[in-house]
Parts: sequence; C-alpha cells; structure tokens
Amino acid sequence: MLAKITSAAVVGLDSVPITVEVDIAAKGLPSFTIVGLGDKAIEESKERVRSALRNSGADLPPKRITVNLAPADLPKEGPAYDLPIALGILFASEQLNKQDISDSIFLGELSLDGSVSRIWGVLPCAIMARDKKFKNIFVPKDNLDEARIINKIKVFPVSSLKQLFGHFSPAESDSAGQATQKIIPAKAKKQQFKSIGSEEYDFENIRGQESAKRALEIAAAGGHNVLMKGPPGAGKTLMARSLATILPKLSFEESLEVTKIYSVANLLSVDNPIITSRPVRSPHHTTSHIGLIGGGNVPHPGEISLAHRGVLFLDEFPEFPRHVLEALRQPMEDGHVTISRAAGSVKYPARFSLVAAANPCPCGFFGDETRNCTCNPGAITRYQKRISGPILDRVDLHITVPAIPPGKLTGRYQSESSSVIQKRVQKARDIQLRRFKGLKITSNTEMNNKQLKAFCNLDEQSVLLLKQAISKLNLSARAFHRVIKIARTIADLDASVKIKSNHVAEALQYRPAIDN
Ligand SMILES: Nc1ncnc2c1ncn2[C@@H]1O[C@H](COP(=O)(O)OP(=O)(O)OP(=O)(O)O)[C@@H](O)[C@H]1O
Ligand SMILES: [Mg+2]
Repeated sequence: MLAKITSAAVVGLDSVPITVEVDIAAKGLPSFTIVGLGDKAIEESKERVRSALRNSGADLPPKRITVNLAPADLPKEGPAYDLPIALGILFASEQLNKQDISDSIFLGELSLDGSVSRIWGVLPCAIMARDKKFKNIFVPKDNLDEARIINKIKVFPVSSLKQLFGHFSPAESDSAGQATQKIIPAKAKKQQFKSIGSEEYDFENIRGQESAKRALEIAAAGGHNVLMKGPPGAGKTLMARSLATILPKLSFEESLEVTKIYSVANLLSVDNPIITSRPVRSPHHTTSHIGLIGGGNVPHPGEISLAHRGVLFLDEFPEFPRHVLEALRQPMEDGHVTISRAAGSVKYPARFSLVAAANPCPCGFFGDETRNCTCNPGAITRYQKRISGPILDRVDLHITVPAIPPGKLTGRYQSESSSVIQKRVQKARDIQLRRFKGLKITSNTEMNNKQLKAFCNLDEQSVLLLKQAISKLNLSARAFHRVIKIARTIADLDASVKIKSNHVAEALQYRPAIDN
C-alpha cells in the first residue's frame, strides 16, 4: 500500500513542502530503501526509524519498503524526515487506519527509543506551512516555542512516536490497552522584546570619551557604521561592548527575520527559542572568510548574517586578513549576501551595523598627546593601508578615542547610564519606524537615493555647508549621501522634523578628509 505524508525542506532561509511517499509492496524480498537525493543523515534514517518503531510497540513489516522524498531533484539534508517516514510506514502497513492528513506537515528526528528530538529550521517551515495554507504542523516538543510565533496555523508538539501513534489511532485504546490521548495544539505565545541590560558593560562606567559615546548613540539610533581609532587601553573595546546596552528594541518583523537565520544556523535552543534582542556578534580576527561571510558545501549563514539587524563588532580591525575585509564591501552596501555553490545558490540577509576598533599604528601611540610613537613612517603607512579606501568610505562615523589621562580615572564621576541613552535611541528609532512604514526599511542607514531625496530635505544653509565640505574633505558621492543620512539621524535624536545646518555640521565632524 502507498502512503503520502507532507514534510518540509529548508532551502536557504525559505522552506518548500516535501512529499514523503512510502510504498510497501506485497511481493519482493524484504528491503528498506530511501530515494530522493538525501544526505548521509537521511540514509541513516532507516536505522533510527527501524528501532524507533520497534521500541514504540509498532512493527517494521518484513516486506519491500520504498521511501521517496519528492521533488526528487532537490538535495535534502538532516534527520527531520525520520518522523514522516515512520508515520508513512504506519499508514502504509495499515497499523494506522487511513485518514486525511493532507493539510498537515510533519517534522522531527527520532531517537532509537522512539522519542522525538529537536531539529533546526522549524521556523521557516512553519512560515511556509502558514503561507501555503496548511492547517496543522507537527513539530518536536522542544521546537514548540519556535513554531508557535507563527499564528493562523495549529502547532502540535510531539514528544514521541508512540504519542503520535496514539493521536491517529481510534480513540479507545492503544496496543497496551491504555486509553490513547490526542495531542493538543499549542496556543500562540506573545513575545516580549527587550533591550540588552548588562552590569559589566554600562555607559555609566565609561569615563570621559564624551564624543565617542555620542557617536555610538548616533550609530545605535540610525544603524550606522563606526570605526574607533585610538591607543591601547583607551576604552575602545569597552565602548563597543557597551553599545549592545543602548541598541533599540527589535520589532516583531525584525525578530522573525533574525530568528529565521538563527534557526537555519542551528543556534536556537529550548531555553532560547526566539531572538528577542538585537544580536551582537564579535568574531575573532582569525575567523575565516566562510565563517564571516557564510558558505560551505551547503551554504550556511556567516557572522554577517548572524549580526543581521544588530551589530558586527570587529575588534583589532587591521588584523583581519585583507581579503576577508574586502568581502564585506558588497554586503555592507546591499544588506544581503548571495552565496553560490554546486549545491545551489542562496541569499542571506546581512543588514548589520559594523563597529570596528583599531590602533593608529603597530605600537598604538601615533598621534597620541602624551606618549611618543616608536614606529617608523613606513610601518605606520603599511599598517593604516591594511584597511582599504573603499571600506573606509563605507564607514559613516570615524571616531578618535584619545587615551584617558590617569587623573580622570579616579575621583567622583557621573555619567549617563545606558538605560537613559537607550530611551533616547528608542525614541529616534520609533520616529524612523513611523517614517518608513510600508517601505520595508526600518532605519536611516537603509535609505536608497530616492528615499533620501524624499525624507532628507536640506535648507539652503545646509546645502551650502555640504558643498563646501565636499570640496574641502574630498568626499565621494557615497560619503556625501552617508553624511546626509547621519544628519537625518542626528535630527531624529533631536526630535526635529527638518534637518538643520547644525545637524549637518555635526555629521560632517565624523568624516575625515580624504588625501589626494
Ligand atoms: N574611558 C574609560 N573609562 C573607564 N575605564 C576604562 C576607560 N578606558 C579604558 N578603561 C579600562 O581599561 C580597560 C581596557 O580598555 P579597552 O580594552 O577597552 O582598551 P582598548 O582601547 O580596546 O585597547 P586595545 O587597543 O589595546 O585593544 C577596560 O577594561 C577598562 O577597565
Ligand atoms: Mg581593544
């Protein structure tokens, strides 16, 4: 007999339905074959299904069993098909009575004892199930919280094959004579979105560095890129880490986008099923090209995608290999990255704000007021050239972080706390959310040229100021547009509808002159 069960495959960040066909032939030698471009985990599924069925009180009939995962030309990976294959066998062997389950999707990995384990990629599957008008989705119990962010679909948490068997059995009793229980679909759960608090990293612990703190506030409000340069021990790493505590809250749509990426990267857990605050990623400078950008035989998201809607902090920026840094150029501009491999091409979002920290020279004291730099001019130039012009051009806020005089580190000191700054940042971001409603963007940094024209009207004085700055600072067209976006964010922090000349003037302070 033939049974058909619907499951789902994840392709990039999207999901497609997969039909699991199980045929049990009355004639032929006993065998168990799975076809349909499965990977090693799917091949091994046979052994898990065999043991799980036996340990759940069911049988794997000694007949010729063929399983086909359709469409057959799509490569499939992972153990998520264990559950639909086992269920298909139960129906095809008539251990379960025939019933209409064409409006349900089944996902789950089986343990040998028949319990159902957590899998990755459940959120994209749940979104696909809702969009394709399926009514039910059966997921491992440990994936429940991830799946039930999606409404308009019933989510059934499955803890074991036996439980699923009971669910589809006639109501009276199971093979052991116990009353069978139906699985009850879970209710949708409302999410709380929060900002990240931290005792260790709070802006009130940072002494001095007022202009750098202001620049970080602007970066957090508008999602801009920042480069901090200064001598060792000036507080660059400290400030970059503290930035997480002033970021605006994620919106529901943003949280879905980010959680989808983490789901596919298998970085969610039972305790952390949904990403509810902006991600901050800080990969070490020895991270590989693939680790940062994404890739692998079957392309997986890299650090830039894991930092989507959050912050990518690259400490010791010049120490990153040049080809790794250059690979950031396209995603920094487009907000996504397309990775092509033999197995297919996928597009991952990568709209992050880059926060980079660097010393000005190998010894770290070039330009310092108190200590002498011991590097020779060639070494300084070589060090500074490690960061290419095009990358520097993409940085919106260039900040110099001078060393703090030891005298300033002692004594009484009062500084704004992160929660106060976060409130200002949130207000500015809320203004942006209202401005960009219906436009698929959420922050000033994402504006394209058309939106820039629509939302960033400059008065005459500001235009004059910008014109002078272009020639004096040798600004590129990109830098010109980026300065206007920064001015827009500064105006938003000021709760000003119009961009005024003082906003433009402040934005220009963060742009260094480009040497000819
Ligand atoms: N402005 C500051 N206020 C309070 N503490 C500071 C400040 N600057 C530095 N510190 C102290 O110095 C330590 C080192 O600072 P941090 O690691 O941020 O320096 P850095 O600029 O990243 O140096 P490097 O260039 O060597 O990486 C911090 O952990 C903190 O304890
Ligand atoms: Mg540091």
